[in-house]
Amino acid sequence: MKNEEKTLLRIEHLVKRFDVSTNAFQKEYVHAVEDVSFEIKKGETLGLVGESGCGKTTLGRTILRLYEPTAGKIIYDGQTVFDKAASRQPDMFDFRKKMQMIFQDPSASLDPRMTVGDIIAEPLDVHGLCNSKKERTERIHQLIERVGLTQEQANRYPHEFSGGQQQRVGIARALAVGPEFIVCDEPISALDVSIQSQIVNMLEDMQAEMGLTYLFIAHDISVVRHISNRIGVMYLGSMVELAESFELNKNPIHPYTKTLLSAVPIPDPKKSRQRERIVLEGDIPSPVNPPSGCKFHTRCPYKTKRCEEETPAFREVEPGHYAACHLI
Ligand SMILES: Nc1ncnc2c1ncn2[C@@H]1O[C@H](COP(=O)(O)OP(=O)(O)O)[C@@H](O)[C@H]1O
Ligand code: SF4
Ligand SMILES: [Mg+2]
Repeated sequence: MKNEEKTLLRIEHLVKRFDVSTNAFQKEYVHAVEDVSFEIKKGETLGLVGESGCGKTTLGRTILRLYEPTAGKIIYDGQTVFDKAASRQPDMFDFRKKMQMIFQDPSASLDPRMTVGDIIAEPLDVHGLCNSKKERTERIHQLIERVGLTQEQANRYPHEFSGGQQQRVGIARALAVGPEFIVCDEPISALDVSIQSQIVNMLEDMQAEMGLTYLFIAHDISVVRHISNRIGVMYLGSMVELAESFELNKNPIHPYTKTLLSAVPIPDPKKSRQRERIVLEGDIPSPVNPPSGCKFHTRCPYKTKRCEEETPAFREVEPGHYAACHLI
């Protein structure tokens, strides 16, 4: 990780709620992201994990203002991207060149009526980054080759590509405008296991080559633990723990993180037998009506009366290790 100390992105008390009211008299909201704060350093990979539906995609999209935040503040490289307290929000046009997203489902994120070359070049066109047709074609060819495809494939359509190749196109498109920060939203979840590591390796190579900063989302902690410098764990819209990757794996504090880690298979059968496996009871509660106090209390084996009444603060327990639990 280069320039370790420079903060590239800071979010403060970010909230995103979706209005799902069915009538005007009774307002109902999905509490998708609730009061989340963290920083990402330049050149770092921050892994973000948690069960499906806990708000990872919403958080990624809200940071890029693909969803308008409900509350909070987003600062990118010292510049305000969003501030609920301000009367007007900044224009996103220039930020879009710096902040990009790679989507979970590559087939759904590529327009089936466009050639792959045009899909890759669309952000270049929007930002007027090519002065001639020749330059545009050259740039498409550079990008398509960078993601391991051939120049000839630029004239084909997305349906002619495999899932892994479609994801390569999605990555080329994200790279087109020369971004600094990329939200990688479960970029390998929809792909065959055999090609998942190829895509991860490619993203890692690109990071080293271009000094990229990643927010790398996964529902499975085993996917991100080797590639992330730090890992954040989300539960029902809230960040419950955040630490250096090694530290989080070795010394998890929050009961929910312990559960996630206990589900990761260990290759050594002896060690695997010795390990305590924590199985969570019950389903993840509805984010429309999240539990009071600590949102994890309905499933936590250690809950007390206080947990039902009082929301635990997300605080620094040890240097660089944050968690939200009354037990610590
Ligand atoms: N556009 C939307 N409208 C209403 N609810 C949404 C919308 N997008 C996501 N949600 C809800 O917000 C919660 C978080 O979803 P999401 O961010 O997709 O979770 P994850 O990526 O962790 O699986 C879920 O309950 C989901 O159903
Ligand atoms: S605050 Fe209470 S319910 Fe929440 S994780 Fe800690 S012990 Fe469990
Ligand atoms: Mg998601």
